[in-house]
Formats: sequence, C-alpha cells, structure tokens
Amino acid sequence: MDMFVVQGGQPLAGRVGVSGAKNSALPIMAASLLADGPSVIWGVPDLADVRTLSQLLQTLGMNVLRGAAGEILLDVYDPKACVADYELVRRMRASICVLGPLLARRRFAVVSLPGGCAIGDRPVDLHLKGLRALGAEIRIERGYIIAKARKLRGASIYLGGPFGSTVTGTCNVMAAATLAAGVTTIEAAACEPEVVDFGTYLNGMGAKISGLGTPFVRIEGVDELIGTQHEIIPDRIEAATLILAAAITRGDVTLENVRLDHLTAVLEKLREIGVRIESTDDGVRIHTPIELRSADCFMLPHPGLPTDVQAQLMALLTTVPGISLVTDKVFPDRFMHVAEMARMGARIRREGPSAIVSGVPSLSGACVMASDLRASAALVLAALAAQGESVVRRIYHLDRGYDHLELKLNRLGGRITRVEDTPTNMPATLKASALERPADIDDADAEIRGPKWLTVTAPTKTKLATD
Ligand code: EPZ
Repeated sequence: MDMFVVQGGQPLAGRVGVSGAKNSALPIMAASLLADGPSVIWGVPDLADVRTLSQLLQTLGMNVLRGAAGEILLDVYDPKACVADYELVRRMRASICVLGPLLARRRFAVVSLPGGCAIGDRPVDLHLKGLRALGAEIRIERGYIIAKARKLRGASIYLGGPFGSTVTGTCNVMAAATLAAGVTTIEAAACEPEVVDFGTYLNGMGAKISGLGTPFVRIEGVDELIGTQHEIIPDRIEAATLILAAAITRGDVTLENVRLDHLTAVLEKLREIGVRIESTDDGVRIHTPIELRSADCFMLPHPGLPTDVQAQLMALLTTVPGISLVTDKVFPDRFMHVAEMARMGARIRREGPSAIVSGVPSLSGACVMASDLRASAALVLAALAAQGESVVRRIYHLDRGYDHLELKLNRLGGRITRVEDTPTNMPATLKASALERPADIDDADAEIRGPKWLTVTAPTKTKLATD
C-alpha cells in the first residue's frame, strides 16, 4: 500500500493538461457490449477503475486492448457471457453500467449489487425501476441482480429520486432503450456532461437519442448498433481539482484541455471566493490573490456545483477567512474528509448534510487517511497548502479515479513523493516522538520516586475466581 509524503507551503505555478473523463469513459466502455464489431475510444484516462472495468469486460467476452497512442479497442468475441462477478463489481461501483447493455444485447444479466461506500448507501433502485419499465424481469438473489428480457419494449420512465436524478442510472436505461422496440422517454434524466458524452457515443453506434443534456431524453429503438470511434470529453472533475490546487496554494496555473462550459458553476463559485479565472485558447488560467472570501456552497445535480468537487472546495474554504457553509444535496453523508482536515488544523463542524467551515490562517502538516476518491484528492490539496510535511495514507483511493495526479501537481511545483506505507517511511517530524516535552514544563514530577509497595488482601465476602 502506498502513501504520499507532501512538503506544503509552495504556491503552484505552470501549465498542465487535463486527462479524459473517468465518469464518461467507464459507462462508454461498458456500452461497447451493445455493439456488433469493434469500437475505438480515444482519451481514456490511465487509472485503476479503467483497468478494473477492462478486467470485468474481458470476463464478459470482450477483448479490451490499450493501443500505443492511449486509445482503447473494445471488441466482443463471446456474446454469451452474462455474469459480472462480485469480486470485480465490489471494487468499482460503476460496474453496474454493464447491466443495461447486457440486458439489451444478451437478454440475460447477472450483476452483483455494488454495495455502499464511504460517501453513502449508493442504491440502484432507480436503475431497476427503469429497466423493469422496459419489460425486464428482475430479481435480487444472494447479492446479485438477476435480469432477463426476451425483448425490451419502449416506455415512459420517470427517473427522479430523493437526491435528484441518477447519472449511471440514466446511462443504464438509455443503453437498454437503444435496442428496445419502440420509443422510450426518460423524464428527470441526469444532465451531466458525462451522460451527454455517453449518449453521443451511442448515437455514433447508430442509436437515435435526442434531448441529451436536458431532463427529457427520447430514445427511438433500433435493430442493431455498430462499433464506432469516439473521443472522451475532458475530465471536468480533474480540472476542478487542479484549479482548486492552484487556488489553495495561492498559485498561478494554466490548464489545457478544459471544457469551460462543463465548469460554469465551479468557476462562478471560485470568482465569488475571489479567485481570478481567465479563459485561454483551450483552457483556463487561474491566479489567486492571498486574500480570498468565504462562500456558501450547495452541491447539486448538474448544472449545479458537482458533489465530486465538494471535498476539494471545502479544503480551499478551510484556508479562507470567515464562515462558509458547505451542503451536499446529492450525497448528504459525503464528509469523511472533515475529521482528517481537522487533524491539519481546519475548523469544521458537521450539521447533517452540511459542514460549517471557519477559515484558519494556515493549515499544519499532519498524517491523514484517505477514505474515498475525492476526499483523498482534497487531503492532497490541503497538504500542498499546509505548513510543513504531511502524509496522506491509503492513496489507492486516489489511484482509482485520477490519472497520475501527483505527477501533474509536481509538474506545477508540488513536492509530493509516493512511498510505501511503512513506519520507516513516516517522516520524523510526524512521529509522536518528535513532539518533545516543552522546555517550560518541569519534568521533575515525571520521575518515579522509588518503588511503592501495595499490600493486597482479597475482600473476604468476594468469591475468588479460583473457588
Ligand atoms: C455518478 O455516480 C458518478 N460516478 C459519481 O462520481 C458522482 O458523484 C455521482 O454520479 C453524482 O454526480 C460515475 O459516474 C461512475 P447517482 P452514480 O446515481 O451514478 C441516489 C466520483 O467521485 N440514487 O447519480 O452512482 C444516490 O444515492 C464518483 O467520480 C438513488 O437513490 O450516482 C445519490 O444520492 C463518486 N437511487 C444520488 O441519487 C438510485 O437508483 C445520485 O446518485 C441511484 C442513485
């Protein structure tokens, strides 16, 4: 298991490119199960979740090959495999995205229920509601979703849930509807850019989908889909993470390969906080004054502030004077990073689906534990801003969803070293022994003044264990 050792206090500066979107690449790779013939996907990020999904797709009868230029070739060779095993699905929730394509193309699917994670319960009831509306027979047995459908039929489906729509649920239902007989309408469809990219890929394979990016999506069923080429959109969450890394270190950074129209809410909020944002030819320049302003943040479904940026925004706000309220309306329990940031001197108080942040003049380096993908990124950002050394442990969470984030940050002047998580690699400054007794605390009383004997006589009325 690896950890990061981070030297903080250095403003980031320079230029770096953003990778392709993880949350677009994963459902798109899964949807390749629908196609006759190979697809080639460009701009797929190099990260653990992509490798895990590639393994899962191989078990589902698909060849998945990464080319020299980073492209991925996906080609079905065995259309009979239908079981997505727990061992792989439990490692990556997005595996649920194979359900719709398997059902539509192979008429039968056994997919492990993904289970919860550090950010919430992660139910899939809306996925199943949509697929049942298309005519699928679905039952849950021994932790598996067992779904079958002789022929799916178009339907009118409402996908709204208590926390808004569902991103991967919309992808699953859209995928299944492409090969259903007749027309399907989805009301309260997710509008995230990754869902638009997903629908664009399906249309490239011959699907007939309209309304992408709006809550009302219409899918006219077709007889078959053919493999195609597609380029993944830039990762807006990675871009937001790098922008916030520049802001929290009060740096001056230019990002390439950024779709500003995917980041409207984030850029609006950063301007409110006082970060200077300039658009460039194919990206954005962030330069940050020392003095920033507190701000309230409400994480909402797109086009609102994305929940996947909540922890990183909170990290910035811990270093901004004043009180900021951070509320996550999508994942109300997504606050595992609060306690870890407190170890670095942040002042944050949880109140239900919100956190109240009181800015502090500076964070101090500490040893902290990552709990989930975006929380680990937020802790790295806090460590880059903190005075002194920090260690961020369990960074396998980070490796799941970022394409070599530490290399990008170090290219901007960050001082992050990846080491094995062993006691010898723990910096001396972070070991408890480094916190010496202060000189003004007299240690005279700390001496043990000779042996003091204690005569012990068992109370007569108590029955001894040996009786
Ligand atoms: C996608 O997850 C993303 N993952 C998440 O990114 C992202 O946080 C989330 O959308 C919200 O934007 C991928 O795309 C692979 P949802 P998803 O279904 O689809 C509730 C990251 O860090 N809900 O849109 O699983 C759910 O509990 C990851 O990259 C139901 O109630 O999220 C949540 O509160 C983390 N019933 C809300 O809806 C359902 O059937 C949104 O969930 C499905 C979801």
